[in-house]
Amino acid sequence: MSVSLTWHGHGTFTLDIDGTMVVVDPFFAGNNPAAKTAVEDIPAEFVLQTHGHADHIVDTVPLAQRTGALVIANFEIGTWINNKGYANTHPMNTGGSYTFPFGKVKMTPALHSSSLPDGYYGGDPGGFVVEAGGKRIYFAGDTAVFSDMALIGAMGLDLAVLPIGDNFTMGPDDALLALEYLKPKAVVPGHYNTWPIIEVDVEAWIERVKTETAVTPILPVVDKKIEL
Ligand code: NI
Ligand code: MN
Repeated sequence: MSVSLTWHGHGTFTLDIDGTMVVVDPFFAGNNPAAKTAVEDIPAEFVLQTHGHADHIVDTVPLAQRTGALVIANFEIGTWINNKGYANTHPMNTGGSYTFPFGKVKMTPALHSSSLPDGYYGGDPGGFVVEAGGKRIYFAGDTAVFSDMALIGAMGLDLAVLPIGDNFTMGPDDALLALEYLKPKAVVPGHYNTWPIIEVDVEAWIERVKTETAVTPILPVVDKKIEL
């Protein structure tokens, strides 16, 4: 079993589990200023949707329509996608787990908001813990730090993928606090430097993770695979 993670810029990632492509929060070049790859060139068998904000969902329906991917999202977002004319969705809600062909997925809470781009109600925002290929990976989604992250950390995480860009989500300081609750083996930052409003010194943050925590930080490079 091999598992790799690729950052596409902003909060968009591909998890490659033995060749099965699981795309988190599709937001690609043309829409995403940090992305280099257009949605037309992205393979996907599954999509994990953390919440309904445009910077996470604007490319979901086009990606799903071209690839036929199963879109895993909360009930409200799944219904919104169905209303857009795409039927292949799997509804979940906070705290629920389900085993898919690639692995087990648990939907976690997130402290954020979640309307769809057209104003439709998006339910509660979330994150995901994915257990696949012998790894347990937490995608926090857009969230503030919250102390119940300790419950997620108690699952035993190989990797946490955290937003660090501040303003809309936790920033660099709170992401360090999140690591105290989550205690993952490694961390990959996301949701930063896409626009000036979420600009942070990511290299300084990586150094702080090295010196202030026991977690291994991984600086992602757009479209470059990180082997897990
Ligand atoms: Ni958001
Ligand atoms: Mn966002």
